[in-house]
Amino acid sequence: MATAAPSAIQAFTITLIVRRFIPETDEEPRWQSFDVEVFSTDRVLDALHKIKWEQDGTLSFRRSCAHGICGSDAMRINGRNRLACKTLVKDLDITEPIYVEAIKGLPLEKDLIVDMEPFFAAYREVKPFLISNSTPDKGKERVQTIANREIFDDTTKCILCAACTTSCPVFWTDGQYFGPAAIVNAHRFIFDSRDDAAKERLEILNDQEGVWRCRTTFNCTDACPRGIQVTKAIAEVKQAVLRGRA
Ligand code: SF4
Ligand code: FES
Repeated sequence: MATAAPSAIQAFTITLIVRRFIPETDEEPRWQSFDVEVFSTDRVLDALHKIKWEQDGTLSFRRSCAHGICGSDAMRINGRNRLACKTLVKDLDITEPIYVEAIKGLPLEKDLIVDMEPFFAAYREVKPFLISNSTPDKGKERVQTIANREIFDDTTKCILCAACTTSCPVFWTDGQYFGPAAIVNAHRFIFDSRDDAAKERLEILNDQEGVWRCRTTFNCTDACPRGIQVTKAIAEVKQAVLRGRA
């Protein structure tokens, strides 16, 4: 009988140190260490699943798609905002413990789960939907040139994970700041040639808690798992506030 070839996938044991907070029993967050056996193909999300399913079912975190699309598993991994489902364990330094904690600047609810409502409230404020004063001809699309579509292509990629906003020092210290993600989603419509509400959105962002709070630290661009040039988008919105949409 033929024997199965040995698996080429390497397995190793890593230590994950997770910042836990269970509101019913903890007065303050605390760090808890877990040793987990993972494969070289595993992501941090897989390691968290292993802990939850095999060691401690109370460990709480959000995830849905597990493939970098839904934006629900942004967390701080070794001090940097990332999606757990897009972070391969082998790409981290596995000779040292891996620290995992909730994103910063939003109210902590439990373990790796934060209250996202302040984030979505800012998003809603910039009216992230098409507003048009005209009606397309019956059965026709709203026509747009390739060049006009290109202007806001980058900001259409946002998955609302909040990695940018919760890596921004201004957002940490000033809970009122709209934050990079809201500005990215405003950009997506401000520069859309089919939209007629750019002026309205620019007025909203010209507020004292709007674009002028940005200090161009680039944390947002570094954090974005979609590779969006967040700081550039904010700079373009600033220009549009001063000079109007080009
Ligand atoms: S801009 Fe990037 S980091 Fe910010 S919410 Fe969108 S996808 Fe996430
Ligand atoms: S679980 Fe959907 S983006 Fe990671």
